[in-house]
Amino acid sequence: MSSLRVVLASDNPGKLAEFSAILQPAGVEMLPQGQFGVTPVDEPHATFVENALRKARHASRQSGLPALADDSGLCVSALNDAPGVYSARYAALAGKEKSDAANNAHLLEQMAGISNRRARYVAVLVFVRSPDDPLPIIAQGEWHGEIAIAARGGNGFGYDPYFYIPELGKTVAELAPDQKNKLSHRGKALRVLLDSLASANPTAQS
Ligand code: IMP
Repeated sequence: MSSLRVVLASDNPGKLAEFSAILQPAGVEMLPQGQFGVTPVDEPHATFVENALRKARHASRQSGLPALADDSGLCVSALNDAPGVYSARYAALAGKEKSDAANNAHLLEQMAGISNRRARYVAVLVFVRSPDDPLPIIAQGEWHGEIAIAARGGNGFGYDPYFYIPELGKTVAELAPDQKNKLSHRGKALRVLLDSLASANPTAQS
């Protein structure tokens, strides 16, 4: 059975690993957009779905392949759902370095003295068969947890060392990759997307 080749509209190696782990067994070969020289695109919108659609169309246009984009982030209840769509740029928007470490340090600063630590990860996935696909497939997933006081664990990426799952008594960075994929916002969204793909005949061009 030949696999469906799809470009992933992201340069984040953490995301590529998580997508490939779930999609490869389903016959979908994920190819990083860097392999096709896809240029970075800005994410100007206030919603995850608009940013994901923009990234998917751009990657499909530049690669000539179907494309999958993920726009995801951390929404913290006590911060009115910040950093949200700005999760990757949270520290940079405050004039600091653009890195996971700086984002985490900035988050802890914003949470100082706040006892409501509730938060959720959200992921919105958009799949387009072609750049101007009139009927993109959209799926979303959420994962609820809390912001920890101190970092724990070395797996995952981004905010994972501080994203604590009370039922497990662990941060996400303490979970094995396959456990994260089973439970995560991205894993949930991907399984919804796979169901939709299976019933939508994705190889047919619009
Ligand atoms: P995007 O690449 O614009 O979608 O930004 C996603 C950002 O949200 C990442 O850079 C992380 O900061 C954060 N994020 C999304 N999903 C996760 C996750 O699974 N673990 C940790 N951080 C995440």
